[in-house]
Amino acid sequence: MQREELVIVDDIEKQAWQLLEDAIIYYQGRPVGTVAANDRSQFALNYDHCFIRDFAASALLFLIKGRYDIVRNFLEETLKLQPKKQLLDAYTPTQGLIPASFKVVSNNGEEYLEADFGEHAIARVTPVDSCLWWIIILHAYVKATKDLKFALQPEFQQGIALIMELCLATRFDMSPTLLVPDGACMIHRRLGIYGYPLEIQALFYAALRAARQLLICAGDEEIVIGIDKRLPLLQNHIRHHYWIDIQRLNIIYRFKGEEYGHSATNLFNIYVDSIPYADLAIWLPKHGGYLAGNVGPSQLDTRFFSLGNLMAIISSLASEQQSQAIMTLIEEQWQDLVGTMPMKICFPALEKEEYRILTGYDPKNIPWSYHNAGSWPVLLWFLTAAAQKTGRINIAKNALELAQYRLSEDQWPEYYDGVRGMLIGRKARRYQTWTITGFLLAKELMSHPEYLELFSFEKFDVENAGYACNL
Ligand code: GLC
Repeated sequence: MQREELVIVDDIEKQAWQLLEDAIIYYQGRPVGTVAANDRSQFALNYDHCFIRDFAASALLFLIKGRYDIVRNFLEETLKLQPKKQLLDAYTPTQGLIPASFKVVSNNGEEYLEADFGEHAIARVTPVDSCLWWIIILHAYVKATKDLKFALQPEFQQGIALIMELCLATRFDMSPTLLVPDGACMIHRRLGIYGYPLEIQALFYAALRAARQLLICAGDEEIVIGIDKRLPLLQNHIRHHYWIDIQRLNIIYRFKGEEYGHSATNLFNIYVDSIPYADLAIWLPKHGGYLAGNVGPSQLDTRFFSLGNLMAIISSLASEQQSQAIMTLIEEQWQDLVGTMPMKICFPALEKEEYRILTGYDPKNIPWSYHNAGSWPVLLWFLTAAAQKTGRINIAKNALELAQYRLSEDQWPEYYDGVRGMLIGRKARRYQTWTITGFLLAKELMSHPEYLELFSFEKFDVENAGYACNL
């Protein structure tokens, strides 16, 4: 890089750090989180809230910079918002749930935190990913501060246990994956991801790994046993049934339907005509592959979902070979998956009748926009982390080069539209915090790969799974 370019990049970074500082939310004089966006040109809607999923990147940056207080305050305050009792009426959040977002409200000069479990969200979608992110952030906090005692406090142990109970509860299905309603994660509009979406499964796996390390065995033996049993089953299920590459496509292509009993190979009764096998056979590179978006009865969603695939690499849910193959696919299908603004939330877009039925004619989710294959700069940090984990640094380098000048010029938009991500999202906010932190975190991970340790996991080894257990 030329000297002039270095100076420009340096200025962009300084601006981004300042914007992050401006995004901090204070509660009773203490920093507790960051707003979703600071776009003064638009009505705030709920973008003045601190979203749990959005805060993850902020939290990691604060931990990297030694600003532990913000993350500690965030964890303590959000824990207080978690319902501790199960009320048997509807319209109240379930015990163990962590809100999608919260905001500081003043009443007669007194401040309190108002939690949103989806009541204020469009279509009132209940968040599933928040409680999983919460454990991942807590785990990162313990790793950064080495203060295990913080997580061992009884209220934190109870908080983790309640989330685990919610996730490990017996239900109406017998799959190791987590069954959720449509729109329960980063994508919280109707996009046909109900059932067993990959993003939730990858976060679930990471949260199980984190919880397993933080729980004291003596008090929570049943939960710990539950986690130990679930982890390998979940891992095998995803690695086998979600995996798509040319070899697997060949198997699916010749699947027989309506098989019964234990000898069935087409376990989910997938009919090849329900998937775009001809397009996939052209699109899949020889050595590339990816994890499908969703697998359930007679359903194989072959869309590529970025957060789920990248998080599967980071958490070691995907095998080493699969992780390499995912990165190869990203490299070889760069124009489709990364385009001009890293990177697409999913690919390809739902179009025509499929768009109308699955999104319910949602005008914000027209093809190649917003959640329907729009490009989200926040994904830059997940891509960089996955690139570091797999040793494919050039992928992250190229992605960062695409993003760094444009993001600040465009005033840090929430998302981009278009088949190649050339258009600033039609309804995108400017000064979106996770766009800013996604960029900063990607930069930090490039220069200090060791930060990966805060949120990534190595191969699961039951013998060394929990550090709280060994106390
Ligand atoms: C949008 C995104 C969601 C995010 C929220 C706040 O609704 O879809 O994932 O948490 O904005 O940025």
